[in-house]
Amino acid sequence: MPSSPSFDAVILGAGAAGLFCAAQAGQRGLKVLLIDHAVRVAEKIRISGGGRCNFTNQGLDLRAPQRHFVGANPQFARAALTRYTPAHFTQLLQRHGVAFHEKHKGQLFCDRSAEDVIALLLAECAAGGVQRWQPCAVKNVGFLPSSAGGESAGSYQIDTDRGPVQARSLVVATGGLSIPQIGASDLGYRLARQFGLPVVAQRPGLVPLTFDAATWAPWNALAGVALPVAISTGAGKKGRTTFHEDLLFTHRGLSGPAVLQISSYWQPGTPLSIDLAPGVALQDALRQAKARGSRKLLANELATWLPARLADAWAAQSPDWQRPICEASDRALSRLGEQLSHWQITPSGTEGYKKAEVTLGGVDTAALSQQTLEAKAQPGLYFIGEVVDVTGWLGGYNFQWAWASAAACAQAL
Ligand code: FDA
Repeated sequence: MPSSPSFDAVILGAGAAGLFCAAQAGQRGLKVLLIDHAVRVAEKIRISGGGRCNFTNQGLDLRAPQRHFVGANPQFARAALTRYTPAHFTQLLQRHGVAFHEKHKGQLFCDRSAEDVIALLLAECAAGGVQRWQPCAVKNVGFLPSSAGGESAGSYQIDTDRGPVQARSLVVATGGLSIPQIGASDLGYRLARQFGLPVVAQRPGLVPLTFDAATWAPWNALAGVALPVAISTGAGKKGRTTFHEDLLFTHRGLSGPAVLQISSYWQPGTPLSIDLAPGVALQDALRQAKARGSRKLLANELATWLPARLADAWAAQSPDWQRPICEASDRALSRLGEQLSHWQITPSGTEGYKKAEVTLGGVDTAALSQQTLEAKAQPGLYFIGEVVDVTGWLGGYNFQWAWASAAACAQAL
């Protein structure tokens, strides 16, 4: 019987991390096979950044890159992120003539289309002689220990619907659970468990937050209102996380960059604290307006600092606030200012994986080498990209982790 085709490395998942790792390993002279079950390559790159792919963030703090990442041990990501930096990736784009620009807080986007990043990755794979099987389902993965003896000893056996293959190294780059309709699956977590690696429980991250109907009733009509806020979660100086970004009201709850960012830190059952007019001492400002004898309705005065629809909805919450400022009691004004600066509201949940940009949790970093992403207890098995318990902030950090973890792995294969 002919033996199955043999590779130096088989990489599962032709997304950001898998494509980049395959290209780099191929260009080092390795014989590489890249397998993906989806019909189209790199679907998440295609839909990312509104179709323009926010491929990195040049604000990544290279002295402490882990501060832009969430996970049981964000420090883990440091080694890879400091070795393959945003500048390395932008140099690669420049070599391919891909034009890009900075949009907001260091976020770099393609001028034209996310397709430019996909074309670049495919060209890099071609330069490395990478073979790609797609669509191709993975049916089973096994490992023949060195002690087994024979030609295939110490190799991974991958059974696919295009037949079996074997490889000295197996790289799992199957991503997280977000957006199942374009190919997300739990294969990476299942393989980790199969080989005895611990997996941190997953949940949706960078995701809109929802509220129960009664809590949301007063704000339901505000869908579409957006404003800059300071949003916080957690308690104590160390446990508290705050983002200064835009918030968006939706029919079911809150979204916008502020909420997506905080969602990765929010724990179910705990409240969010939102300053709806950051940088404004609202209590003082309202008292001063009263001292001036302003006859404006409170809602109209609030519209100086807040979108008018939000100011109206807020003032409607209490009869004390539905009057001219000069007639409002000091107590009512203080309560209003305090509540707008520290709006406490407890989400009932999230919009889930169908809307989440990323998956929190994943393969436990304690079981992986931070230099190479190889499983400490399973030689030749690697996990890279989002399948690992390393999740970046919104703004290009997740792709940067995909590139950096892929580069670290490719050097070690
Ligand atoms: P990725 O998900 O890219 O790739 C995994 C691959 O594995 C897929 O091709 C999948 O088909 C394949 N696969 C899964 N299961 C398989 C199986 N059983 N068998 C075979 N193949 C399998 N990040 C960022 O930095 N900037 C941005 O602008 C955005 N924007 C954005 C928008 C939206 C809508 C989403 C959902 C996500 C983003 N992200 C983002 C996050 C970013 O897309 C994500 O972190 C990376 O794509 C992760 O790269 P990976 O290669 O690890 O997984």
